[in-house]
Amino acid sequence: MDTIDQLSKDFEAEVDSVIKVKELEPIKIKYLGKKGKITELMQQLKNCSKEEKPLVGQKINLLKQGILQKLKSKEEALSLSEKTQKFEKEWIDVTLPGRRQKQGSKHPVTQMMDHALSILKEMGFSVLYGPDIDTDYYNFESLNFEKDHPARDMQDTFWITNDSLLRTHTSNVQARAMEEYKPPIRIVAPGKCFRNETISARSHVFFHQIEGFYVDKNVSFADLLSTMDHFWKKLLGKDTKTLFRPSYFPFVEPGLEIDVSCTSCKGKGCRICKHTGWLEVAGAGLVHPNVLKAGGIDPDRYSGFAWGMGIERLALLEYGITDIRLFTENDQRFLDQLR
Ligand code: DAH
Repeated sequence: MDTIDQLSKDFEAEVDSVIKVKELEPIKIKYLGKKGKITELMQQLKNCSKEEKPLVGQKINLLKQGILQKLKSKEEALSLSEKTQKFEKEWIDVTLPGRRQKQGSKHPVTQMMDHALSILKEMGFSVLYGPDIDTDYYNFESLNFEKDHPARDMQDTFWITNDSLLRTHTSNVQARAMEEYKPPIRIVAPGKCFRNETISARSHVFFHQIEGFYVDKNVSFADLLSTMDHFWKKLLGKDTKTLFRPSYFPFVEPGLEIDVSCTSCKGKGCRICKHTGWLEVAGAGLVHPNVLKAGGIDPDRYSGFAWGMGIERLALLEYGITDIRLFTENDQRFLDQLR
C-alpha cells in the first residue's frame, strides 16, 4: 500500500513540473507502458495474501484511472496555453494606421526627354540609341570633321585614347543610322553627351541631347522648317514661334540655329531671353553630301535634314530653374519640387 501511495506522489510531482505537451508522453510510458510502473505493481500482486489482493488490486486500478485522468487534463491545459502563446506571437493591431508608401518620381531631365520623344514618335520617328563611349570616326570623321578641322576644338572633347572618346554630341548616331537602315530613315537619338568645359550655372561637362535625322528622296529645306515649326509648337505650346538663323556645323549645309519665342515672356523681352524675345534651342541643317557618302547613301539621289537639341536647356526653361548644376547634385529638396 505504501509503494502505491509513493508512486502516486512521484507521478503527481512529475506531472506538475511538466510545461510542454510533448513532455507528457514519456511519463505516460513510464507509468502506464507495458514495462511501466503500474505493470510492475500488478506483478507484485501475487505476493499479497488472498484477503489483501482485492483491496490492493482495487487501489492499483484507482491509481491507474487517476493517472490517465491527470495526464488527460494536464494535456488539455497545456495545449490550450500553447495555442494562446502562438496567438500572442502572431498578434497584430489591425486598427493601426497604414505606413505611407514612399513614391519615387522621374528626374526633370527624364521628364523633358520623355515628353519630347513622345511627340517625335507620334511624328513618325523611331528611337535609336548610340554609345556614350565612341570612336573618332563616328563622333567626328563620318560627320565631315577633317582631322585638323577647327570645329573639333569647339567640342572640348574628353579623349580616352587616341581614337576613343566620350561622345560630345548625339550626332554620333547619324552614321550608325545609315549603316543600320536604308532610306527612308527617320530616327531620333536621345542620350548623354560630355564636354570638357568649365562648369557654371549655364553649362556642364555632362548633359543630354536628342538628335533628329531624316533621309529620303526629295527631303527639302522647307521640310526641315515645317517639321521644326510643328515640333516646337507641340513641345512648348501652339503660340510658339520659330526663328531660323544661318550658322555653321561641318555636317550640314546649309546650317542653322533655331530660336523659339521666349517661353517666359512670349517674345516681349525679359531677363531669361536677355531682352531679345528669343531663346536658342537647337542646331539644324540639311545633311552634308559627305555625311551621306560616309553612310553609303548617294547624295545625288537622296537628301536629308538633321537637328540636335540640348535637354537640360529646355528643362531649365520648362521648370523655371536658373542653375544647370542642380540637375546633377541630387538634392532631395530640389527633386521633390519637380515631381
Ligand atoms: N551636334 C551639334 C552640337 O552638339 C548640334 C547639331 C547642330 C546637331 C546641327 C545637328 C545639326 O544635327 O544639324 O552642337
